[in-house]
Amino acid sequence: MRVAMIGTGYVGLVSGACFADFGHTVCCIDKDEGKIQRLREGVMPIYEPGLDQLVANNVREGRLSFDTDPANAVRNADAVFIAVGTPSRRGDGHADLSYVHAAAEEIARLMNGFTVVVTKSTVPVGTGDEIEEIIRKTRPDGDFAVVSNPEFLREGAAIDDFKHPDRVVVGTDDERARQVLTELYRPLFLNETPMVFTGRRTSELIKYAANAFLAVKITFINEIADLCEAVGADVQQVARGIGLDNRIGSKFLHAGPGYGGSCFPKDTLALVRTATDAGSPVELVETTVRVNDQRKKAMARKIGTAMGGELKGKRIGVLGLTFKPNTDDMREAPSLDIIPSLQAMGAEVQAFDPEGMHEAKALLPGVNFAAGPYEAVEGADALVILTEWDQFRAFDLDRVKLLMRRPVVIDLRNIYRPADMRARGFAYTSIGRP
Ligand SMILES: NC(=O)c1ccc[n+]([C@@H]2O[C@H](COP(=O)([O-])OP(=O)(O)OC[C@H]3O[C@@H](n4cnc5c(N)ncnc54)[C@H](O)[C@@H]3O)[C@@H](O)[C@H]2O)c1
Repeated sequence: MRVAMIGTGYVGLVSGACFADFGHTVCCIDKDEGKIQRLREGVMPIYEPGLDQLVANNVREGRLSFDTDPANAVRNADAVFIAVGTPSRRGDGHADLSYVHAAAEEIARLMNGFTVVVTKSTVPVGTGDEIEEIIRKTRPDGDFAVVSNPEFLREGAAIDDFKHPDRVVVGTDDERARQVLTELYRPLFLNETPMVFTGRRTSELIKYAANAFLAVKITFINEIADLCEAVGADVQQVARGIGLDNRIGSKFLHAGPGYGGSCFPKDTLALVRTATDAGSPVELVETTVRVNDQRKKAMARKIGTAMGGELKGKRIGVLGLTFKPNTDDMREAPSLDIIPSLQAMGAEVQAFDPEGMHEAKALLPGVNFAAGPYEAVEGADALVILTEWDQFRAFDLDRVKLLMRRPVVIDLRNIYRPADMRARGFAYTSIGRP
């Protein structure tokens, strides 16, 4: 199959490279010239484990190419994917569909012969209808089908998720489009990956329902963690005790500083808006959004309390800035709420992140970015763990203690054991554990 991928971000680049690896011929398109130029030179615009090798292999085999101009790729494509961003619209929290609509217009102008237009971007219910209308307006005689195929990959494990997904969801009533999608995902069929064929609107809603459910689950365990602190229970054992129940499941039960990232915050908000507009509010999700926002704010107070209340003139070493490990993505990371609050309370912050510092520098003014994790704790009155990168788990804690001014550790990801930390002489605070 010949594939054009419009939008070469986290989703477009990973999906494009994986489809090429499945044996299809893929052109990834992006209007960001610098990004395309770097990709042609073999430089990845994002940090994602294994991506550089996957891209290099498929470029060498002639199956993967990059372009700023969609004309050739779209004209020759069996399937054109829309994988552009759908950020929160400023002011009202609705998904901003301007990039999706612009991509649809471009496709309409260029497509040639039967073309399957596949929405991979996360879009509100009804967006497929809008895309169809836009294309139909420009090309009343066009032979095309608009399909919803939401993406569930996780940054940091994106390639494995794409190649071994729990399921593939395809929303279409068009038999020819169904065949094209079946052919595109053939290697997954052979692996017996469940394929959920459904209506387009249902498919669009599945993506939001999945993300909202996960956001609710995280927020639930975060509230239980607070309760554990109040009553002297251990949230990790509560999570294990409930997670072993198959109806609940053990994933997404790690208490922390509140969810962030490029998807959950905007997708929960967009679902709330869609539901309100449809006259069928999702109050559980509304509450989740509010509780999570409050939680990020509460984390700075928790750090302040662990440091004795007064932060003026205190130096805080922060380890981890990205919203989760194994990505350089800083979108909606809890660090973007917590660090400015600490600064506002008078603290001086020095920070280190293995992959996120390039992005973080533009977003966190006034922070001293350290050359390494040990440099970040030098002379610090407290160490705060914000992201659970593996290298922080394997830290030489005795060396850390010698470098710090005061041995205070606030671990918002529960990566150390409380008893072990206390035995080493740290004043140790974590989430939901005695
Ligand atoms: N990041 C994730 O983990 C993830 C997971 C699942 C789904 N999604 C969804 O996938 C979509 C894309 O997310 P992302 O994180 O990859 O976004 P991103 O911001 O990393 O990438 C989007 C890219 O699209 C490009 N673009 C925008 N309009 C274009 C146009 N008309 N022509 C060519 N290029 C254009 C931008 O320059 C940018 O490079 C979103 O809807 C998101 O919700 C993201």
